[in-house]
Amino acid sequence: MSVTAVTPEGAGFDQQDRSGTGLKEGWGVSPERQQAIVDYLRDHVPQTGRLTAAQLRGITLGVASRRDLWADLVVHDPDVRWYLPLHRSNSCDVWLLAWERGQDTDWHDHGGSSGSFAAAEGCLVEQYRGAGGRRIARRRLLAGEAVAFGPAHVHDVAHGGGESATSIHAYSPPLMAMTYYTATDYGLIARETVAVDGPEGSRGRGGPDTALAAASASAAKLTSDHLPADAPSVDDLLAEVRGGLTRLRPEAAFAGLTDGAVLVDIRSLEQRIVEGEVPGAIIIGRNVLEWRLDPRSEARIPALARADAQIILMCSEGYASTLAAATLRRIGLHEATFLDGGFQAWKAAGLPTRRAQSLG
Ligand SMILES: [Fe+2]
Repeated sequence: MSVTAVTPEGAGFDQQDRSGTGLKEGWGVSPERQQAIVDYLRDHVPQTGRLTAAQLRGITLGVASRRDLWADLVVHDPDVRWYLPLHRSNSCDVWLLAWERGQDTDWHDHGGSSGSFAAAEGCLVEQYRGAGGRRIARRRLLAGEAVAFGPAHVHDVAHGGGESATSIHAYSPPLMAMTYYTATDYGLIARETVAVDGPEGSRGRGGPDTALAAASASAAKLTSDHLPADAPSVDDLLAEVRGGLTRLRPEAAFAGLTDGAVLVDIRSLEQRIVEGEVPGAIIIGRNVLEWRLDPRSEARIPALARADAQIILMCSEGYASTLAAATLRRIGLHEATFLDGGFQAWKAAGLPTRRAQSLG
């Protein structure tokens, strides 16, 4: 049986103080303890295949009841959520987590893995998307209780108040990625998918926004060897095209609108729902932008697809719109530019916004 129980940096790696940055990973599980955990799980974890939710519940409840395997390892920190990987095999992974008052995960799924978590000490509260998709349900977990869920489960787990809480989590297949969601009036909207750097994410209150950066760094490591030497990075490209464009700060863009310019919102529907809209902006999806604005395109919008059109592209933060504006200039719209800082800057400047309009 191939079983590993590891500390992420290897047994006995030096304590790395990440206080202030959010998530903290545990360290220093002795080889003897690792062996004890492996010995316990050997009888409870099938070697291969996808475990059922019921099997995962058995694992989390079983490990939670074996305080001798984990109780002295737990670190409770009011500033950061803390976790420790206890086990990883081809079929599942098992984690130890600590929770303090005010800490939660943010809304997320588990990248298609089934899972279970058991409260081992204290109390947790889980909010989760109900069967109908729109309804939000809520349940409390006291010590010795567990929930199990299938691959479509979306939830937000939080400390349930009172004393510090500790929990055991198991997933099958092992966690690889998680998608984060934003709760809106329209229901939960998927926001972004990140590579997993810890169970229950590294987001939420008490967790940092490091997962995406870590995933990006990891991807860069994997791919940079295979790129042509003269290929610009997206940051290089951004800097290059920005040099040839006039940046419009929100106030200048707003003034431009009264002078014949057109604000074109290229954000996704999901972003508009989450962030809001600018009244009067023309909405053209990024995926069809060039076809709507090229004067030679059969799918053009005639009133906008002109060489001299004063198009101001707006995305969320002003990055995607920069590249899109450069492309519009390339196809002949020499006045095209972008809103510096995007919708976020527009809103921060106190300029007019509104809720996304009804989907109906
Ligand atoms: Fe979760």
